[in-house]
Amino acid sequence: TFVVTDNCIRCKYTDCVEVCPVDCFYEGPNFLVINPDECIDCALCEPECPANAIFSEDEIPAGQEEFLAINEELSGIWPNITEKKDPLPEYEKWDGVSGKIEYLER
Ligand code: SF4
Ligand code: F3S
Repeated sequence: TFVVTDNCIRCKYTDCVEVCPVDCFYEGPNFLVINPDECIDCALCEPECPANAIFSEDEIPAGQEEFLAINEELSGIWPNITEKKDPLPEYEKWDGVSGKIEYLER
């Protein structure tokens, strides 16, 4: 599966959802997740993310391993999203800030 990681938080560009052939992105207040049971590993979303927040589960950056479980958990709770929308208002300020998991809203 592919996994959405820390740098999506407070940016949420949503370019990723437009290319997913199985529509397996789910939306929270300031973050998106991928449902690992639905993802078919096509890799199309990875280069679409302006924040470089999407990784194969085998290539999750060190220290961000917990995002695999976070994607699994929250994709079972949050609603599906298939169409791009505007990023969050302060996306430019937050893109590239590390350790945003403390701001993750559920
Ligand atoms: Fe969707 Fe493919 Fe990305 Fe999986 S790897 S979330 S199937 S676009
Ligand atoms: Fe997040 Fe990147 Fe998609 S910032 S919403 S994973 S395009």
